[in-house]
Amino acid sequence: MDNEEIICNCMQITRGEIIEAIKAGNLTIEEIGDETEAGTVCGSCHDELEDIIKEVVG
Ligand code: FES
Repeated sequence: MDNEEIICNCMQITRGEIIEAIKAGNLTIEEIGDETEAGTVCGSCHDELEDIIKEVVG
């Protein structure tokens, strides 16, 4: 898994940044958006954000 991969193209947010936000306790798309701005523009990355949440939280 590549932590440098851009998951949210709108805001240029990487997988690593999203994982950090989840580990810091932001467990919903809305909370991750507040923390990183990922997912706050077009919404097309929401499925990938959900997948990463599941991966990290288990
Ligand atoms: S790609 Fe994430 S909001 Fe558009």
